Amino acid sequence: MVRALGAEKLVFTSSNSSIEQFAIAEAEGARLTIDDLHLLERLPRRATQTSLRINFGNSCSDNIIGGARSKFGMTPDQARQAAMQLKANGITSIGLHCMDSANHTDSTKKTREAIDLITFARQLVDEGGVDISSLNFGGGLGIPYRPNDTAFDVTDYALKIRAALTKYFYVIPDLSMECGRFITGPSGYLVTEVTGVYRKPHSVIGLNVSTAAMPRVSIYPNAYHHVSLPGAAGTELIPTDVVGSMCESMDKFCEARPLPMPHQGDLCLIHDVGAHCISMSNNYNGMLRPPEFLMDNSSIYMISRAESFQDVTSRFINMEVKENDKIVEKA
Ligand SMILES: Cc1ncc(COP(=O)(O)O)c(C=O)c1O
Repeated sequence: MVRALGAEKLVFTSSNSSIEQFAIAEAEGARLTIDDLHLLERLPRRATQTSLRINFGNSCSDNIIGGARSKFGMTPDQARQAAMQLKANGITSIGLHCMDSANHTDSTKKTREAIDLITFARQLVDEGGVDISSLNFGGGLGIPYRPNDTAFDVTDYALKIRAALTKYFYVIPDLSMECGRFITGPSGYLVTEVTGVYRKPHSVIGLNVSTAAMPRVSIYPNAYHHVSLPGAAGTELIPTDVVGSMCESMDKFCEARPLPMPHQGDLCLIHDVGAHCISMSNNYNGMLRPPEFLMDNSSIYMISRAESFQDVTSRFINMEVKENDKIVEKA
């Protein structure tokens, strides 16, 4: 997909990836990032650009990406060992990667994380004689999901990284980042229709889309996505749950959110879903994915159609039970 978009440089930041996945990424010319010593064995022989993902496990780490039981990264000691191994194997382009935390709008933590990586890289050069040619600061830059959240100060972040790089390196390594949410998040809206306004006796608004189309709200306990009901704006705010139609208690876009009361058929917008909507969606409870539209100034283009029942069943294999109780594929 990335090649099809016309990208010239690729990074493949892996987690528990297979020999086949590494081979495909290497054949496309990607820099391969591994996050465990064991994965050294899975690297293709021809791979010349390899990076090591480190989990520093310090105060910059959060509990989702970089905490004590994180599935990502190796310890700094393991990274040292892996770097020496890569050097011994003749890999000339060794890089380092770190993403220990996500979704911070205060840039201080992400800055410290990047500086940890830069100083560790310097140590490897000085103590291990390893030439570090690439640094990848991962993603994790936050966006202001809540109305009172501040925006991430990307200029301050960049200037502090530049200062650290020029302090520690004469020749600056290649730099890369993997920002997903920061780039795509604020550009995406889930556009829905109000299908019902209920009293249970608490107030509930039903939508024609379920969280299967936008699972982030069900996966992360504190996930907040702003909800707006333009047709009801200016009316009394009532603590309200906004739900889909799945038989699933977590099928809620928000709980007890002060919202104006819409009418059936009104428009309801869920904000900042660009990073975690269709790409995270699923068919749980038989839900079908909605279509996607691209808005370019005043033009709107459909860029993927709505999923159909046939799309979902097209992979099914029709089986039948024969008289001898054997299950076979239907002719
Ligand atoms: C290795 C890596 N890079 C980049 C990202 C993207 O993160 P974000 O969308 O928060 O920038 C993730 C997300 O978890 C990740 O694990």
